[in-house]
Amino acid sequence: MNASPLSPAQTPNTPSAPAGTSLYGGITNRRVTVRDLAAAKQRGERWAMLTAYDALTAGVFDEAGIPVLLVGDSAGNCHLGYETTVPVTMDQMTMLSAAVVRGTKRAMVVGDMPFGSYQESPAQALHNAARLMKEAGVGAVKLEGGERSARTIELLVDAGVPVMAHIGLTPQSVHAFGGYPVQGRGDEAAHKLQRDAKAVQQAGAFAVVLEAVPAELAAQVTASLSVPTVGIGAGPDCDAQVLVWTDMAGMTAGRVPKFVKQYADLRAVLGDAAREFAADVSGGSFPAAEHSFH
Ligand code: KIV
Repeated sequence: MNASPLSPAQTPNTPSAPAGTSLYGGITNRRVTVRDLAAAKQRGERWAMLTAYDALTAGVFDEAGIPVLLVGDSAGNCHLGYETTVPVTMDQMTMLSAAVVRGTKRAMVVGDMPFGSYQESPAQALHNAARLMKEAGVGAVKLEGGERSARTIELLVDAGVPVMAHIGLTPQSVHAFGGYPVQGRGDEAAHKLQRDAKAVQQAGAFAVVLEAVPAELAAQVTASLSVPTVGIGAGPDCDAQVLVWTDMAGMTAGRVPKFVKQYADLRAVLGDAAREFAADVSGGSFPAAEHSFH
């Protein structure tokens, strides 16, 4: 078995993972599958998911052993310069997803279905999910909505499309929510979230993203489901955690949500490198002799 890309000390919560089966380092010669994620839930093994929008960055995360990469429609605000995820198109998601698939060998790549690409009818959803699978090569798709999306999820799953559901704060509904408020607060909202979670599991979703919900509620939902929950702003008791990579690595300009932990300051590092390059050029110290052909 090849060495784990993460040291044992970094391998979260894997006391009962049999050697060679852990998501971290156990799977080295093929892509992670929905069965691996189901087995990880059985073992109580937690895992990390990151977004990725290009081959280069995805390759870095793949080499770091991140088992699942989401080509999120957060590409809209984190990569393409839009204010929200709403304007993102199928053509854009297909292009970005294909790049992430090309840049990776081992991670399961999940392609996000953008706003308007699946709400019209289950047939429209299947058409667009098939595009992500056939043209981009993703291993699964993600779509937003609980009970309201259950019929669509069922049809996709019946057709052989693995579906990751996304409930709680669903950013494509930003205009309906009037912003990005925490979801599931109060008895009625909590029951609605529980019903949404059950409905998408029942429909065949292999995992459920819980975004911006109280930690206690996320813990209850996680305990009540047989499929893994992937938390973002949903406390520590989800089966997995996802962050938008630009938030996680400190590339995002300005404020990041409360639930983000910043693991690097890439924006400062890149800015410094660019300023130093510009200063070398204007000062005449770049290119030096070793950078020149003679
Ligand atoms: O688009 C995205 O990046 C997402 C994650 C925040 C879960 O949906």
